[in-house]
Amino acid sequence: MDFTLSEEQRMIQEAARDFAQNELLPGVIERDEAQKFPTEQVKKMGELGFLGMMVDPKYGGSGLDTVSYALVMEELSKIDASSSVVVSVNNSLVCWGLEAFGNEEQKQKYLTRLATGEIIGAFCLSEPEAGSDATSQKTTAIDKGDHYILNGTKNWITNGGTAEIYLVIAQTDRDKGHKGINALIVEKGMEGFQIGPKENKLGIRGSDTHSLNFNDVKIPKENRIGEDGFGFKFAMKTLSGGRIGIAAQALGIAAGAYELALKYSKERKAFGTEIANHQAIAFKLADMHTQIEAARYLVYKSAWDKDQGNNYDLSSAMAKLYASQVAMDTAIEAVQIHGGNGFVKDYHVERLMRDAKITQIYEGTSEIQKIVISRSITRN
Ligand code: CAA
Ligand code: FAD
Repeated sequence: MDFTLSEEQRMIQEAARDFAQNELLPGVIERDEAQKFPTEQVKKMGELGFLGMMVDPKYGGSGLDTVSYALVMEELSKIDASSSVVVSVNNSLVCWGLEAFGNEEQKQKYLTRLATGEIIGAFCLSEPEAGSDATSQKTTAIDKGDHYILNGTKNWITNGGTAEIYLVIAQTDRDKGHKGINALIVEKGMEGFQIGPKENKLGIRGSDTHSLNFNDVKIPKENRIGEDGFGFKFAMKTLSGGRIGIAAQALGIAAGAYELALKYSKERKAFGTEIANHQAIAFKLADMHTQIEAARYLVYKSAWDKDQGNNYDLSSAMAKLYASQVAMDTAIEAVQIHGGNGFVKDYHVERLMRDAKITQIYEGTSEIQKIVISRSITRN
């Protein structure tokens, strides 16, 4: 067993750490407050190759492994989860989905631009009446021979306003249940495709979350991903990898909150000594450190499983379930360690606490991860 990162992985980790400090940290409080999408930062992340990290260089990607991707997600998320979610969706839901299951024409037409960050993408599964219960799709894609007619509403779509390409899940044949669902590539600007207003959120406020409406949108058949009826499996397989990205995001939020709390506890004095010398605070730090390390190994192990070609449905669900709980617990304790200062924006931990919450909700809530885990371990 080897727990050391390769030279290349350490260099990428360092590059992401530098980028987060130099490019994400300035203005992060203001972007959060104003709900401002990190346009310039996303452009720079594209130039650094962070938006198509695992994509084959022949399609414009960086050709890196999943462990490197998790390291980058962790470092970016220590500072700005609103920016890291753009990286997560573009890499593991959009680029990976297209590279793994798209045909050559689709890869040339869309993946090459998505992997370089020239454009960004969105992944559209959730609906007002189909969130956790994802097979209950109400959006329809009716087969008209050489095209589909798409009707319905998607909600909570990350990159909803800024994306150019949308991977949309929709029901074609209701009689076939989840085997009658398709995944379609929809382009911004297609007639009948409308983007709703931006959501005003508790956390990841810089991220761009919208509902989408499709009203008789004509989608050419060549925009279907995979065989007829493959759409639900496409979504599930893609989400297994997506959960590694969100688990790494949660890990980063936890680690960012812990680093701030540790620093503060060694500077702030009460009762004649640094608060880190009070055992109640020191034990909080010990718990945080231990839980973050445990989360880190679950996240890296799942990324490693994917790189080894092992099944990672179970490990990614466990990583996301645990890391998101650690993110929430750690961020709450980081606010506590900061006392009154933890309650104001300048000290960053209140934002990390608000951002942590979403990691227990999107890409499958914690309850859904427990369904995936329990089904997996009781199957045989
Ligand atoms: N890989 C391949 N196939 C899979 C699979 C996987 N990981 N998981 C399920 N399937 C298949 C099943 O085998 C089954 O197919 P067969 O009938 O051929 O065997 C089919 O999918 C249906 O599966 P279930 O019977 O298990 O379906 P279910 O209705 O019980 O639901 C669920 C399963 C795991 C709860 C699923 O609905 C789910 O994951 N829900 C959560 C949805 C979610 O994660 N949404 C995230 C949206 S994207 C997002 O959130 C992005 C963001 O924020 C940034
Ligand atoms: P519901 O499914 O209604 O769940 C409500 C509660 O009931 C939850 O606690 C849930 O865990 C619980 N519950 C439901 N079923 C069960 C069960 N069987 N057993 C036990 N408990 C259960 N979706 C996309 O498709 N693309 C995106 O880009 C995207 N980005 C998002 C960004 C943000 C900021 C947010 C808030 C959401 C985003 N989502 C996205 C949607 C997200 O994936 C869903 O919100 C999530 O899957 C939960 O669905 P829901 O909100 O409908 O909750």
